[in-house]
Amino acid sequence: MVVCMYRTRFMGPPESGGARGREPFRADVIFGGIAVGSDRYDFDTRIDRSGTNCEKWDDMGTVFGKDGLMPFWVADMDFRSAPEIIDALRAKVEFGVFGYPTEQIGKYQAAVANWESKRHGWKISPDDVGFMPGVITGLSVAICEFTEPGDGVVIQPPIYPPFFREIRHNGRFIVENPLAETDNGYAMDFANLREALKPGVRAIVISNPHNPVSRVWKLQELAELGQLCLERDVAVICDEIHQDIVFSDAKHIPLSLACPELDKKLVTLVSPSKTFNLAGLRASAWIARDRKIAAGMRRALARFHLSGLNMFGLTALETAYTKGEAWLDEAIAYLEKNRDLVERFIRENLPRVRMRHPEGTYVFWLDFRDYGLKNSELMDILINKAGVALSDGAAYGTGGKGFLRLNAGCPRTQLEEGLKRIAEIFGSFEGKR
Ligand SMILES: Cc1ncc(COP(=O)(O)O)c(C=O)c1O
Repeated sequence: MVVCMYRTRFMGPPESGGARGREPFRADVIFGGIAVGSDRYDFDTRIDRSGTNCEKWDDMGTVFGKDGLMPFWVADMDFRSAPEIIDALRAKVEFGVFGYPTEQIGKYQAAVANWESKRHGWKISPDDVGFMPGVITGLSVAICEFTEPGDGVVIQPPIYPPFFREIRHNGRFIVENPLAETDNGYAMDFANLREALKPGVRAIVISNPHNPVSRVWKLQELAELGQLCLERDVAVICDEIHQDIVFSDAKHIPLSLACPELDKKLVTLVSPSKTFNLAGLRASAWIARDRKIAAGMRRALARFHLSGLNMFGLTALETAYTKGEAWLDEAIAYLEKNRDLVERFIRENLPRVRMRHPEGTYVFWLDFRDYGLKNSELMDILINKAGVALSDGAAYGTGGKGFLRLNAGCPRTQLEEGLKRIAEIFGSFEGKR
């Protein structure tokens, strides 16, 4: 059976005179409505996002002191979102009335609950779900719910930098349990965690999967973590924003599934933002199976009027979770090939750079320590010689010295060009051994 489908072409932002349009293409075989043996969605077209008010492309001058670099930093993807989501948003725009969205959020709660069940085997009730604009909003609110000013909160660096910021902003103090580098990759250091969970420490924040080391925590690791937190009566804030982008050799396990007894001390934070490239729409969700915790999250968010999402965010979230699976499956397969490409490229062209096998996410943690350079020196070379913008590993705290984070969520030719630029400089660079 041959079917005519559409592929969206978008060459550049309207401001730069870019062409937009839909071109039909043939999918070879259809089984149950899904194209097999051909790509239904386009991840290859390079999109110039400059001049669209986007952080990743338009803020490089401010952040790196230079415009026009190839951007491999902020964790969003240089792909258009799923056409199903774009169509739903287009219908909202064309309707043209942007008054208050409904407060009947049942169908949005159900969309999140069904997604967790379908994609991750986690059965929750729609009533366990609430909303907030960003995962970091939820993280900050959960810190305030679980702890008092002056309490300790554990994080496991290297870690997404806002974790440090939100703990400090809320007057809590940071207790570090740095990840251990083992022969088999990064691991949670349970011996040290036992020490870290001392009196005065009331919560821990987990990144599952972990940004930036691309670990997808295993059942045993999560179960051990959960048991230890229960033993010490420590609350857990589990940031699962990267849950959906996990490669074929790993499996995401929600912490609540690994340790169901922990539900009485747990808030999980999720979002379609990384998964479907919707971060600018500010739509995220928290999940708490314990009634008291759920009521606390609801109350705390309501205090600042933060639980109501905007109409576009709600529409995108619902459409993503109800109609986005086919796009996501292709996006994951594409990103996995990007992961394989980065691994191969580094092995062949940058033998002094090391990368532990990424199990998920599209941000990869590159170890440049063999060059013996300071992070500021690494960054200077990348910006001023290679013309690429990667995230500085130093921002991720302990364990970030000598590391850079590469965002591989982009068309493959773009990724290849960036890697070649890095190899041209670092492939032959002596550094300071
Ligand atoms: C682990 C982690 N949490 C949270 C966020 C951002 O969440 P939000 O933009 O929804 O606040 C990111 C973005 O990169 C992330 O990697």
